[in-house]
Amino acid sequence: MKFFQTFVILALASSHAFASDPSPLQDFCVAVNDPNSAAFVNGKSCKDPKLLVMADDFVFTMFRNPGNTSNQLGSKITTAFVDQFPGLNTLGIAMARLDFAPYGLNPPHIHHRGTEMLVVVEGTLHVGFVASNQLNNTLFTKVLTKGDVFVFPQGLIHFQLNVGQTNALAFAFLSSQNPGLITIANSVFGAKPPINVDVLTKAFQVDNKLINYLQAQSWFDNH
Ligand SMILES: *[C@@H]1O[C@H](CO)[C@@H](O)[C@H](O)[C@H]1NC(C)=O
Ligand SMILES: *[C@@H]1O[C@H](CO)[C@@H](O)[C@H](O)[C@H]1NC(C)=O
Repeated sequence: MKFFQTFVILALASSHAFASDPSPLQDFCVAVNDPNSAAFVNGKSCKDPKLLVMADDFVFTMFRNPGNTSNQLGSKITTAFVDQFPGLNTLGIAMARLDFAPYGLNPPHIHHRGTEMLVVVEGTLHVGFVASNQLNNTLFTKVLTKGDVFVFPQGLIHFQLNVGQTNALAFAFLSSQNPGLITIANSVFGAKPPINVDVLTKAFQVDNKLINYLQAQSWFDNH
């Protein structure tokens, strides 16, 4: 009994010792002293639950209609992240609706704050993610059909391509109210202002004409 008590006390003490700051919920949060110029702290401010909250705060209706896939990628992602669905604030979860035209692509991208589970509702998707350098950038891919579920671990580059001749539809569930989105091509070649050409020429080991060409493209965001 005495041993057990000691163990519990030690466990409590150590859980305290290992406590850390909560994970960030936005890309950055520069401290300000003046509260009037402060925007939000790790999430957003809350409505007064006694006065203002209604059932409508917990409903999201933007998934009713298919996304418009008439664009160069042939895909449209409709997000139910905290910015579109304020009821998610502090709940640690979000969703997306993914519409694909035949051969439409959701290009390689990262959610730096969230793991993603995807379920295919219609069509056939070639999906994949790439493990980090530590795991030799190993590619994991699969062709999914209706009913299949795939998981994309947090922070890894991933993509979905409709390999069918019909439209495809999928829904994604993410483990953050604000999972974040970094579309690789848009970030690397579409940075504003542009990244120094010498950086990209050396990084990609190509001619600077190719980098100039890529930086001159308009990188469409399918969200
Ligand atoms: C879909 O987007 C295209 C390109 O922006 C536009 O021309 C078209 O009118 C849109 N279709 C609908 C149904 O909104
Ligand atoms: C990565 O590659 C190195 C060198 O070929 C190998 O020794 C190591 O086992 C590989 N690691 C994984 C996780 O595949």
